Amino acid sequence: MDNFSFHNPTRIHFGRGQCAQIAREIPTGARVLLSYGGGSIRHNGAYDQVMAALAGRHVVEFSGIEPNPEFETLMRAVELGRAERIDWVLAIGGGSVIDGSKFIAAAIVLDPAIDPWLIVGNRTPLATALPLGGVLTLPATGSESNFAAVVTRRATQDKLSFKNPLVFPRFAVLDPTLTMTLPPRQISNGVIDAFVHTVEQYLTVPNEARVQDRLAEGILQTLLEIGPRTLAQPDDYEARANMMWAANQALFGLVALGQVQDWATHAIGHELTALYGLDHAQTLAVTLPWLLAYRKADKEAKLAQYGRRLWQLPGADAAVADAAIGRTVAFFEAMGVPTRLSSYGIDAGEAATAVAEQLRRHGRTRLGEGGLLTPEDCTAIVHAAA
Ligand code: NZQ
Ligand code: ZN
Repeated sequence: MDNFSFHNPTRIHFGRGQCAQIAREIPTGARVLLSYGGGSIRHNGAYDQVMAALAGRHVVEFSGIEPNPEFETLMRAVELGRAERIDWVLAIGGGSVIDGSKFIAAAIVLDPAIDPWLIVGNRTPLATALPLGGVLTLPATGSESNFAAVVTRRATQDKLSFKNPLVFPRFAVLDPTLTMTLPPRQISNGVIDAFVHTVEQYLTVPNEARVQDRLAEGILQTLLEIGPRTLAQPDDYEARANMMWAANQALFGLVALGQVQDWATHAIGHELTALYGLDHAQTLAVTLPWLLAYRKADKEAKLAQYGRRLWQLPGADAAVADAAIGRTVAFFEAMGVPTRLSSYGIDAGEAATAVAEQLRRHGRTRLGEGGLLTPEDCTAIVHAAA
C-alpha cells in the first residue's frame, strides 16, 4: 500500500429535507451568488427549499451553466459576482454546475492582472477562493465533496480540469428526493460515471490496499444492484439514496488511498467530449471496456479479482479477465449507455487520430498506471471502440 495523507473538509447533510441546513451553513449577512443550470431546479423542489433557507440573505441568481460548463459562461458569473460584491457561492445542480461554481469561487477573487483561464489546468497558483456550498441534484461526479473541476472552452476544443483544496465545498446537501425528476439518460450517466470512477482507482495492479479494494468492490456491487432499479423505479427513495451515496463515495477521496490509479479512460473521454460533444459518461462507456482489453496483460491480476469478486466468475485468471470485460460491456449496455462509437455515428478511425492529436496538444502523453499509455496506444483503444 502506498503512502498517503487524507483530509476532506466538506460537511455532508444527507437525506430528505436537508436543504434546511443551509440556514445554519451560510451566515445571515452573506451576499450569496446562487448558481444553477437550465432550470431543472425549479421542478425538483430544490429552488424553493434553498430560497426558504436563504431568507434574509442578499441573493443574486446566475442561471444557464450548461453541461460541460463553458469558460465564457462562467466568466459572466464572475463579472456579476464582482459587481455585486458576492462573498459566498451556492451551487445547485449536477457536476457541471458545481464544477463551474468552483471556478467562479476561485476566479472572482483572482488578481485581476491574471488571466482566469490559467486557473484551468492549474497554470496559476490560487491565493484564495470564496466559500462554496453545493446542493446536489444529479449523483455522478462526486464534485459536491471533492476539490476537482472540469471547464470547457468550446472554440478551442479544450476540456481541462483543475484541482485545488481551496475549492472544496464547505458543505454539500445530498437529498435523494431532488433526483426524482432526473431523465433516464442522466440516471444512466450517473451510474456509469460513478462505476468508472471506482474502476479507475481500483482496477490497476495488486497493491495490498485491502480496505480500499473492498470499498471499491462494495461501491461497484451497490451500483450493479441499484442501477437498474433507479432506472425502472424513479420514485424508489432507497434506490436513489444508495445511488447518491455510492456516487459520492466513489470520488470523495477514500477509494484511491494507497492505490495505484489509472484515469486514462477519463483523459480519453474528455477529449471525446471536446471533439464530439458526447455526455461525459457516454465517453467513459465507449472507452473503458476497450482500454481494459488493450491493457489486459498489465491488469490481468486485478481484472481476475474484479471478475471473481464482483461477477462470481470461475476459472483461470486470463479467462476470468476476458469474461469480466464482457460483463462490464453488458452492464453498460443494459443501463442504456452504448459501448461503441458507431452508436453515435462517429467514425472510430477519425476519432482515434483526433483524440491522439488532442492528447499531445494537452501534454497528456504518459497516461494510466505506470505512465505507460502513449497517444499511439490511445489511438488503438479508440479504434477498438468502432
Ligand atoms: O441544467 P439543468 O436544467 O439543471 O439540467 C441538468 C443538465 O441538463 C440535468 N439535471 C441535473 N439535475 C437534474 C437534472 N434534470 C432533472 N432533474 C434533476 N434533478 O442534467 C443535465 C446534466 O447535468 P451535468 O451537471 O452536466 O451532469 P453531471 O453531473 O454528469 O456532470 C458532468 C460534468 O462533470 C464533470 C464532467 O466532465 C462534466 O463536465 N466531471 C467532474 C468531476 C469532478 N468535479 O470531480 C469528475 C468527473 O469525472 C467529471 O469529469
Ligand atoms: Zn467521471
